Amino acid sequence: MDLIEQLEAVRGSARASLRGLATEADLERFHQEFLGKKSALTEAMKSLGTLSPEERRTAGSKAHEVRTEIEAAFAEAKNRTRGAALEARLAAERIDAMRPSTETRGRLHPITRITRELEDLFSFMGFTILDGPEVETDANNFGKLNFSDDHPARDMQDTIWTTGDALLRTHTSSVQVRAMQLFEPPFRMVAPGRCFRFEETDASHENTFYQAEGMMVDRGLSVANLIHVMKTFLSSFFERDVNVRLRPGYFPFVEPGFELDIQCLVCGGPGCPVCKHSGWVELLPCGMVHPGVLSAGGLDPAEWTGFAFGLGLSRLVMMRYGIEDIRHFLSGNLRFLEQF
Ligand code: PHE
Repeated sequence: MDLIEQLEAVRGSARASLRGLATEADLERFHQEFLGKKSALTEAMKSLGTLSPEERRTAGSKAHEVRTEIEAAFAEAKNRTRGAALEARLAAERIDAMRPSTETRGRLHPITRITRELEDLFSFMGFTILDGPEVETDANNFGKLNFSDDHPARDMQDTIWTTGDALLRTHTSSVQVRAMQLFEPPFRMVAPGRCFRFEETDASHENTFYQAEGMMVDRGLSVANLIHVMKTFLSSFFERDVNVRLRPGYFPFVEPGFELDIQCLVCGGPGCPVCKHSGWVELLPCGMVHPGVLSAGGLDPAEWTGFAFGLGLSRLVMMRYGIEDIRHFLSGNLRFLEQF
């Protein structure tokens, strides 16, 4: 058989094989047999060199023609096969969004659960639930809360700045300013939400965390009102009588400012590892709203008084569920989330 006949034979059997191609494995086999390094076609092309120039011209162009045809047919078969495989898969994995899912249901993130619980408890005490933007102005996050431009307290709340005057809020206290502009006093509000700080992360520090701000403005409020509201909330939240104590604490927007501790819920006072053997656990900063902050919010400090508190929501959730590392919250780890 001369080369031309051989090439025609290859063309014939390639055409015959093409029809049967259905799977990826078929495609692979076909490619090896007809277009691979050891295929008859490749061998034929190699042997062109042994022919006379004239024979080489005719046989060469025939070989080229056959190869082009097979390549084109192969490409088409590949598209067809893969298209059909995709169609089959789409049909098999089809989801009818109108039918109840057979998958397990999702669940609420522990932060969301506690947020809702906290909102319920505070609504019950007459507090309005407020929301504030996570990207805030410098004025609402710092300036109107009595942090002057060069105040060292700003350094403790480093954050990410976006363009211009805007930043990722470092605390929910910015909502205090918004509340004073939004409501005619007297009012009470609580504003849970996400905050950001440029932090080195560890088991108790995260660059993204949750707080709940609380604020009450009325005539003649005192520290006694603050303590009462905190005790009422904490006792309902922990479902038992909670003893609190105040220590002085500094925040530019409250005067006087406090750190509120609760008596250790694990040992009840004598001391244990949870309270580091002190009998008390530091829980939330609070204080009476600074007159300068009332003025910045458009209220007359001679007429109005207020108190504010900043609940560390992530912290509270950790205490409630005994979570040892704050970084679990945003890890997206299902093994963590499925426990709730
Ligand atoms: N915003 C303060 C912080 O994040 C906490 C705070 C809130 C203190 C309200 C006093 C009153 O550190």
